Amino acid sequence: MKRILITSALPYINGIKHLGNLTGSMLPADICARFWRLCGHEVLLICATDEHGTPAELAAEAAGQDVQSYCDEQYELQRAAGIGFSLSFDWFGRSSSPQNHAFTQHFAERLEAAGLIEERTSQQIYSITDQRFLPDRYVEGTCPHCGSAKARGDQCDSCGRLLDPTDLIDPYSTISGSHDVEVRDTTHLFLKQSKMQDTIRDWVEGAIHWPTLARSIALKWLDEGLHDRAITRDLSWGVPVLKDGKPRPGFENKVFYVWFDAPIEYISATREWAEATNNTWENWWRTDQGASDVSYIQFMGKDNVAFHTVSFPITMLGSGEPWKTVDRLKAFNWVTWYGGKFSTSDKRGIFMDQALAIAPSDMWRWHLMANAPESADAAFTLEHFQAVVNSDLANVLGNFVNRITKFTGAKFDGQLPTGGEPGAEEQQLFEELDTRLAALREHHKAMEYRKATAETRAIWALGNEYLANAAPWTAMKNDPAQAAMIVRTALNLMVIGAIIAQPFIPDTAAKILDAMGVPNDNRNWPKEAAATLLDALPHGLACAVPKLLFAKIEDEQVQNWSERFGAEASEVSKNGSYSTR
Ligand code: 2FM
Ligand code: ZN
Repeated sequence: MKRILITSALPYINGIKHLGNLTGSMLPADICARFWRLCGHEVLLICATDEHGTPAELAAEAAGQDVQSYCDEQYELQRAAGIGFSLSFDWFGRSSSPQNHAFTQHFAERLEAAGLIEERTSQQIYSITDQRFLPDRYVEGTCPHCGSAKARGDQCDSCGRLLDPTDLIDPYSTISGSHDVEVRDTTHLFLKQSKMQDTIRDWVEGAIHWPTLARSIALKWLDEGLHDRAITRDLSWGVPVLKDGKPRPGFENKVFYVWFDAPIEYISATREWAEATNNTWENWWRTDQGASDVSYIQFMGKDNVAFHTVSFPITMLGSGEPWKTVDRLKAFNWVTWYGGKFSTSDKRGIFMDQALAIAPSDMWRWHLMANAPESADAAFTLEHFQAVVNSDLANVLGNFVNRITKFTGAKFDGQLPTGGEPGAEEQQLFEELDTRLAALREHHKAMEYRKATAETRAIWALGNEYLANAAPWTAMKNDPAQAAMIVRTALNLMVIGAIIAQPFIPDTAAKILDAMGVPNDNRNWPKEAAATLLDALPHGLACAVPKLLFAKIEDEQVQNWSERFGAEASEVSKNGSYSTR
């Protein structure tokens, strides 16, 4: 049995996430966790809300709430949305937890002791109108790289480059809109990343198991050379900067940068989990205390890769302590809304709570993974959602389950029939199923979810093809034993189809397996040969017809949702940048 640690990038606290955020981290992390659990391994799936920094402060201000109560409220909403999507987190923590404050202080102390942190005075944008410094998202302006007029102080969504607020052309305050800003000196803690260049390059070059997207982004960063960066900000909300347990002189009004403390929350959330459930966190994270046999997988959108392949590893390796670093890192491109940006303010796109209000979570989970933005950005459209749900889920899976269970009910008193021997048709089925199950397993291991959904669908389709070729309704008339064998084989195939569907559509899979009375212990990932799998259920087993699995999505529904969610891509969003933010 392996021990597998899986983390999903932490969603910012600033509002319920949209389908793009879900697809790039939380959902695939859940699918990966479910797959490995089904294979019998010990899995720990960790996520949390990312509660500090300017995203939290700005959103709280816009909501007219103090930051703490805003975060408390939004945390509950995000937790509920995660549950609604059946995301099987072992722990959904908060980066504002006391555990994260403690670990953040700890890492800063270790890095300083290692000579990797120093105080430096640098220039920051100061708003005369607002009488404050404007870190990160408090300032916007024109991107010096691509000319986009709406680049934020920390990042340009158009070209994806990370920015320093002072890089912006014609900067203005996002608090007041005022252009009355100037550059002033301010002192911050700087992490000397440049000193870690060789260590990180060796580490990345040794990480041969990373999928291509993550690896190429990391190497590009290293090729550009690592710059020292400020890890504190002129803000009040966040982890305070201490020295010997007291506010660090000169840093009384500063906190750690959100991107310094957020990844540390992966460790802190594990500790939150361990403390709440009487477990230990050390054997997941400390290689001197049992974590060396852990396999650690991270999921994230592509804009997070540099932070996970460079910045966070610097924090961990630079501490000089034996921390477990990531083994495999899966990054996603963007899901776009009709080719443009999801946007809360422009009411464009569907957010997790809205999605659950209009269709069951399994429909979203399936569609989003069947069209995962793995090799390029992928446009979400309601029309495509309708087409995929209706064909894959309602027609292919739903019809198969319905036909075979109804036929069993009508002709075999709802019992798994006995009698008959598999023949040539079944041999061919066994061979194809063996090949497809092996391929599916490989796709899951490689975290290739488009391929894994396609293979899952192909196995369901085998059911319909087999029924069409073997035609139990014809056999029923002149060879009832043959009909019994066909029905038995098809019911077993349906159960295999449900077992392998569990990572993607857990609620529906459970309905099918419940209707067949399959005990939990027998829902594990199939290991035996198809010939055994397709006669595994006990003869005489009661087989109920599950309630309708998927209602087809009608054109009127699509029409109605299009109006509600702004399905027409505007000119700006058509031509503009892609982002999941
Ligand atoms: O980009 C984002 O949505 C960040 N909140 C991700 C943080 S991941 C981790 F490092 F905390
Ligand atoms: Zn740009």
